[in-house]
Amino acid sequence: MKVIFLGAPGAGKGTQAELVSARLHIPSVSTGAIIREAIKTGTEMGRKAKAYTETGALVPDEVVIGIIRERLSQDDCKGGFILDGFPRTVPQAEALDRMGITLDAVVSIEVSDERIIQRMSGRRVCDGCGASYHILYNPSGDGEHCDKCGKALSTRRDDAPEVVKSRLDIYHRSTEPLKDYYAAKGILKLVEGQEKVEDTTALTFEALGVR
Ligand code: AP5
Repeated sequence: MKVIFLGAPGAGKGTQAELVSARLHIPSVSTGAIIREAIKTGTEMGRKAKAYTETGALVPDEVVIGIIRERLSQDDCKGGFILDGFPRTVPQAEALDRMGITLDAVVSIEVSDERIIQRMSGRRVCDGCGASYHILYNPSGDGEHCDKCGKALSTRRDDAPEVVKSRLDIYHRSTEPLKDYYAAKGILKLVEGQEKVEDTTALTFEALGVR
């Protein structure tokens, strides 16, 4: 299955992508995670991307299109994949079409801006493997360390309230038009983001026709 997860920053794309990936045994590809790893390890791409992500701006299309082209050519993507955070602009979606990829579904997780702003202040991420938690809705075992790798949890720099606001503005301006783009292709599925992660997961599987 080849699926895109759309949604505002903090809508729960990454959380749902990981759960669906584990159930369907297909990789979840997050451009945000790839970019954060490149920043952490100090690659040339990471140095270029750092200033954009810290202010909540989008990294230029040609950079992320290059990342995705390279990642999707790897063997583990041959049997399907989930794209979390790509495409984010119409030119990125057009580039994906030009790669000859036939998508099965585009799931848009719908959450209001007010709830997003509340959620982001409670997000904690693992400094080691990048796993995402929430202090109320999805806490780690001891609240301070990652359940998967044991490393410390911290807050993302781009989760500062003023940066979240700017990311939401960019989402509405540049990414939300993709709902029309994929609705016109007949593959858009809207999923109302729920208060509980598992409730959103159930609706996501239903939208994908997975029992
Ligand atoms: P990226 O990492 O993709 O950030 P994002 O889209 O802003 O999404 P987030 O990771 O913030 O949120 P999410 O929807 O995955 O939510 P999550 O599951 O973590 O991108 C970061 C940056 O990289 C961008 O700003 C940009 O600069 C750059 N970039 C990346 N891709 C790009 C592209 N294609 N083009 C250009 N630039 C690009 O959940 C959020 C929180 O809520 C968590 O704490 C979680 O535990 C909690 N939660 C999740 N579900 C629920 C629920 N149902 N109820 C309650 N809490 C929940």
